Amino acid sequence: MIRYIESISRRTEDFLAKLWAEYPSAHHISCNEKDLSRSRPVQQSNLCVEDEQPVLQVRDLRTHFKTDDGIVKAVDGINFSVHKGETLGLVGESGSGKSVACLSTLGLVPTPPGFHPSGDIQFKGRNLLTLPEHEMEQLRGNQLAMIFQDPLTSLNPYLTIARQLTEVLEVHHGATAQQAREAAIDMLEQVGIPDAGRRIDQYPHQFSGGMRQRVMIAMSLLCRPEVLFADEPTTALDVTIQAQILELIGKLQTALGTAVILVTHDLGVVAGTTDRVAVMYAGRIVEEGTTNEVFANPLHPYTRGLLASMPRIDTPPRTILPAIPGLPPDLGHLPHGCSFHPRCELATITCQNAYPDVVVASPTHRAACWEAQPTSHQTHPGTPTPGETL
Ligand SMILES: Nc1ncnc2c1ncn2[C@@H]1O[C@H](COP(=O)(O)OP(=O)(O)OP(=O)(O)O)[C@@H](O)[C@H]1O
Ligand code: SF4
Ligand SMILES: [Mg+2]
Repeated sequence: MIRYIESISRRTEDFLAKLWAEYPSAHHISCNEKDLSRSRPVQQSNLCVEDEQPVLQVRDLRTHFKTDDGIVKAVDGINFSVHKGETLGLVGESGSGKSVACLSTLGLVPTPPGFHPSGDIQFKGRNLLTLPEHEMEQLRGNQLAMIFQDPLTSLNPYLTIARQLTEVLEVHHGATAQQAREAAIDMLEQVGIPDAGRRIDQYPHQFSGGMRQRVMIAMSLLCRPEVLFADEPTTALDVTIQAQILELIGKLQTALGTAVILVTHDLGVVAGTTDRVAVMYAGRIVEEGTTNEVFANPLHPYTRGLLASMPRIDTPPRTILPAIPGLPPDLGHLPHGCSFHPRCELATITCQNAYPDVVVASPTHRAACWEAQPTSHQTHPGTPTPGETL
């Protein structure tokens, strides 16, 4: 297995080096280029330290939906940022608002029924939430890209895969039709599509679900985005292809400094590929920190529950892993106070009455919980004041 991954790694480096050499305009970010040949070990930050401004900064983002049952608060006041070359993991149970958070950032939430009671999404000095649609279209699939959880929603059934893959290289990167086709075939091979030279002329319905997901990954990577949202990019794929895809995304980051927001249920993937983690529950971020901090010292009972339910290498066979009791709340009828209190064994009357203050463990690690006690309830410069959400 290790030899297999090493051979993938070598092929990927060769491929990317060739692709970037052919389209030098793609070298728009330089601080990580010297690291092209280095595989990123687990937990090592890929962050460009000389560039402290985040490439994307989301503040107080709320995305609600008007439904017959009332207002669904899918995303309810989240803050996050991501730097060049960094990977932010977004984790949480099904329905916690991860996909809506990503779609909102890219302006892809249908309005109506969706609307944004608040929010500011800064990308290159512009607020994406107020950008006209034609300007967002210019950014999407070019500087901002997304690997969708459901590939069928993003591939056009009426166009061949070739049409859908080559356009971005021709329109945005000045490649000729022939160059774009060759690069697209190469990329399809990289993501594990056999006989790519022939299959590139087929339509999406001629591909299996897992293959469609790989086609979409190829499309996102070909445009060499500055920010890539990867929403469960490998869930439908088997483990060898999964390793290959994650490797490919990692190489893209190293070569171009792409910032990645990785949505996944797989905490093993989070541990191995992310620099920082944000844990979402009921439309809010309840804990965030570096991956080391969150895994070594989880502050929030929900994060501890997620980690406890993850099998570890030293878990004896047939061990029944503890599950978090109960179900996530209905986002249309959230409990008062801390949304997690009906499921939390530490819940107190205070938890039922008021949404928790932010507890700060380090300048990079904080959580919203009345009972978390890493240091004290305090604020650091640049962190939310008590009463605010993460
Ligand atoms: N168009 C919509 N109208 C009403 N509610 C919606 C709409 N889109 C999403 N929601 C609700 O927003 C909530 C968050 O959904 P989201 O897809 O972001 O969850 P998720 O965390 O990505 O879950 P999963 O891990 O299953 O993908 C869900 O309760 C969902 O029903
Ligand atoms: S605030 Fe209270 S209910 Fe919420 S997670 Fe913390 S201890 Fe549990
Ligand atoms: Mg989702």
